[in-house]
Amino acid sequence: MKKDLLSISDLSSEDIRLLISRAVDMKAQGWLSLLDRKILAIMFEKPSLRTRVSFEVAMRQLGGHTIYLSPAEVGVGKRESVPDVARVLSRYVNVITARTFSHQTLEILAGHSGVPVINALSDLEHPCQALADLLTIYEKKGELDGVTLAFIGDGDNVAHSLILAASLVGMNFRIASPAGYRVQDRILRLAQDYAADNGAEIFCTEEPRLAVKGADVVYTDVWTSMGQEAEAEQRQQIFTGYQVDGELLSLAKGDAILMHPLPAHHGQEVAEGILDSPQSVVFDQAENRMHLQKALLAEMLGGLEMPLAGYR
Ligand code: CP
Repeated sequence: MKKDLLSISDLSSEDIRLLISRAVDMKAQGWLSLLDRKILAIMFEKPSLRTRVSFEVAMRQLGGHTIYLSPAEVGVGKRESVPDVARVLSRYVNVITARTFSHQTLEILAGHSGVPVINALSDLEHPCQALADLLTIYEKKGELDGVTLAFIGDGDNVAHSLILAASLVGMNFRIASPAGYRVQDRILRLAQDYAADNGAEIFCTEEPRLAVKGADVVYTDVWTSMGQEAEAEQRQQIFTGYQVDGELLSLAKGDAILMHPLPAHHGQEVAEGILDSPQSVVFDQAENRMHLQKALLAEMLGGLEMPLAGYR
């Protein structure tokens, strides 16, 4: 694997399969002393529940340690330049995970860091979420190859990482988004290249019903992401018609699962109560952030010499 994980495109199909396999094994094994005397810095410019806690617990369950750095403490790019922050942190810790407004901040951080940098969400991608999502789909469906995922809503950072990850492992990816809110062209072209190499299909539409029909997985995310609060009212109007409710979900396969990275806005992108339905796997997704990130940290920091027993 590359030194850093900033984008899903930093990984190969084999890397993703390896991480899922490791995560399956590590989920079964629980606590392991693999990262004794290793320290993870968690540096966030935005709020978080899942990402922060899952990284903290992942590191501790592997025998390592964490330091959380809030926006107020560091002032990345304001109190101190991004390259200097990277160079200083590299002298203290073994790995950095950062949540930034701008993806460019992450790239500069990684470019000047002597230790691995993991994207904990930027405006462009959310790779750890996508990897945990594939782990969840693998657990629920028993395979990834040929599984069809329908993403309903904004072509946002979560959609970007998911379309890349899905096409790398041979999953079919459909996305229904309003005009002007599609995945970025560059990401779509890259995903189409991956899909061609891995026998997957990509389908983009403005019509949610077309995307969901016969799908194995229905996935949605918030209409207004962190940092877009000024657009919330306008987005609320534009995305009306993109809510995942019982009627839309009924167009998917009978055993389809419903996914959402959380936090959810109940009554907006998801109908009230639908995340409590038997089809919803959102809390398994949230738990799998921790298992997948344990595999990622161990792989990046060289703590693993385990036989593959999970995903093939
Ligand atoms: N899904 C996710 O990244 O959640 P947090 O924003 O709470 O970390």
